[in-house]
Amino acid sequence: MTAKIVVVGSFNADLVSYMKRMPRPGETVHGERFATGAGGKGSNQAVAAARLGADVTFIGRVGNDVFAELAYEIWDAEGVKREFVKRDSDVATGVAPILVDSSGENMIVVVLGANRRIQQSDIDAARERIADADMLVVQLEVNLDIVPYALQTAKAYGVATILNPAPAAAISAETIQLADYLTPNEIELETLSSGDVDDVASAARALLTRHDQTAVVTLGAEGARIVTPEDSLTVPTYAVDAVDTTGAGDTFNAALAVGLSEGAALEDAVRFANAAAALCVTKPGAADSAPYRADVDALYLGQ
Ligand code: RIB
Repeated sequence: MTAKIVVVGSFNADLVSYMKRMPRPGETVHGERFATGAGGKGSNQAVAAARLGADVTFIGRVGNDVFAELAYEIWDAEGVKREFVKRDSDVATGVAPILVDSSGENMIVVVLGANRRIQQSDIDAARERIADADMLVVQLEVNLDIVPYALQTAKAYGVATILNPAPAAAISAETIQLADYLTPNEIELETLSSGDVDDVASAARALLTRHDQTAVVTLGAEGARIVTPEDSLTVPTYAVDAVDTTGAGDTFNAALAVGLSEGAALEDAVRFANAAAALCVTKPGAADSAPYRADVDALYLGQ
C-alpha cells in the first residue's frame, strides 16, 4: 500500500560550509567547500518520505525570492504535492547557514522567515487531505502556535501523528499529548524535560500522558530507543562512514512515518528508519542526501 503522509513544516535554503574543524567563538577558519541546497526539517521529511514511496503533501510557506525556486525544484522532482504551500511577497524564504566538520558533525542557525507565517488557515485549507492521510508529521521550525492546531486537526479525523520536537523548544504537555509518536533526539529530550537527562527511558516516559503514546528517542550512532508507558527497547542502527549528519533526523522521521503508515510493527518501522538515516549520513546535504526506497530496503532487508 502507498502511505499517505501530510507534513506541516519548514523549508529553508541551506547554505553549507564544509571545514576540517568548527571555529571557536571569535576565530576564523578556512572552509574547504560551499554548497547551497534544499533544507528545512519539514521539507526534508517530505522529500525523504516521497523518495521512500509515499504520497506526500507539504503544508508550508516560502518567500518571494530565488530560494523559493530551490523548494519548488526539489518538490516537483520528487513528486511532493505543494498546492497548500503559500508564497509570501513581503518576507524572505527561510535560510539555514550550516557548518559541517570532517567528522560529519554539524552546527546550524535557522532564520525562519516565511516559515513563521504558517497559519491555522493554511491547515484548514488542507483539511480534506489531512482527513484522508495515514499520518501527519509536524516539527517546531514554525510558529509554535500552529503545532497543536495541526495535531488537533489530524486527531479530529482519527489520523495518526508524529511530533518531531526539533529544533529544541519548550512545548506544553497539552501539545505533547496530541502526539501519537514523539521523536526527540537527546538534546530535545533534555529541553522537553527541562533539565539533565540521566536516563533516556525515564525522561521520555515522564512526557507520555496517554497509555497509547510512544516516544522514539534518536541516539545518533547508537540507533533509537523506543519508550512506551510500560516498556523500553533500544534498536541499534547500521554502521556507516558519516560524511554529513545534516538531515539524518528528518530522514528518520520520514521513514518512521512511512513504515508505520504501511502497517509495519513499531520495532520494524524503527529499524527501517535507522537504515534510512544511516544511508542519509553517507552523503552531503540535507534533502539531497535522503535515500531512495530500493537502497533503504537493501540495507534493511539485508539484500
Ligand atoms: O535537520 C536539518 C535541517 O535543519 C537543515 O536542512 C536546516 O535547514 C535546518 O532546518
